[in-house]
Amino acid sequence: MSKSADLVSLIQARAGDTPPRIGLVLGSGLGHLAEAVEGVSIDYSELDGFPHASVSGHNPKLVIGTLEGVRVAVFGGRAHYYERGNPAEMRVPLEVLKGLGCEQLLLTNAAGSLRDDIPPGDLMLLNDHINFSGSNPLIGEPTDARFVPLSEAHDAGMRAELAQAARDEGIDLKEGVYCWFAGPCFETPAEIRAAKIFGADAVGMSTVPEVILARFFGLRVAAVSVMTNMGAGLSSESISHEHTKAMAPLGAAKLERILRRFLRAQG
Ligand code: HPA
Repeated sequence: MSKSADLVSLIQARAGDTPPRIGLVLGSGLGHLAEAVEGVSIDYSELDGFPHASVSGHNPKLVIGTLEGVRVAVFGGRAHYYERGNPAEMRVPLEVLKGLGCEQLLLTNAAGSLRDDIPPGDLMLLNDHINFSGSNPLIGEPTDARFVPLSEAHDAGMRAELAQAARDEGIDLKEGVYCWFAGPCFETPAEIRAAKIFGADAVGMSTVPEVILARFFGLRVAAVSVMTNMGAGLSSESISHEHTKAMAPLGAAKLERILRRFLRAQG
């Protein structure tokens, strides 16, 4: 049996074998949502092949249970490419999600905004992305399945449901393009100007590898960014991880309302 099949058995033995309707990856500032799920919590350290997330502000456990009446699998933390130089850090977790019978993945992250009309504390639904990292989680995948089409990577149906949930909550949810930088440094002002010319609306250090892996595994996927700052050079405010962690909860509170409404509408 493959590693992920073993993990699926282990998780089902603990949490039951009802497939989760939705997988949720919680970015900076949203980790506490894992506590709101009624269900079984398993530390990543018990799941061979899951990342040992080391970024402060993340909560490395998988929680399978019910949120707003919907069966969910919540990934309380993610690993980033910059931690070990491995863009496929989330490959095993997402393969396991698919193995549990889940069909949809919702990703969240903290990002820097390139648009004045999406200030820090506001949210952006990703309608596309740019891979500016030079890496890809499918490098080394030996099968032809690696040639994943990404022309409609961000699922139109999920995006429409998230946009509706935001409208129902009276929350402004803009849409735009997220550009993946490898990190861990924040960008230079020149890189931010370049990203703008390329057509990016936000920059960040995560999410794109997970979108690629989700499509590889045949999961429908959507992602929402919480803006924690303006991109480098666009504002006089300084950019730091401390600032990201301090700002993330502002947008996260709005995102939590959208997520809960989105889940209720699934029922
Ligand atoms: N750049 C990259 N990643 C980020 C930023 C940023 O400005 N803010 C939060 N995550």
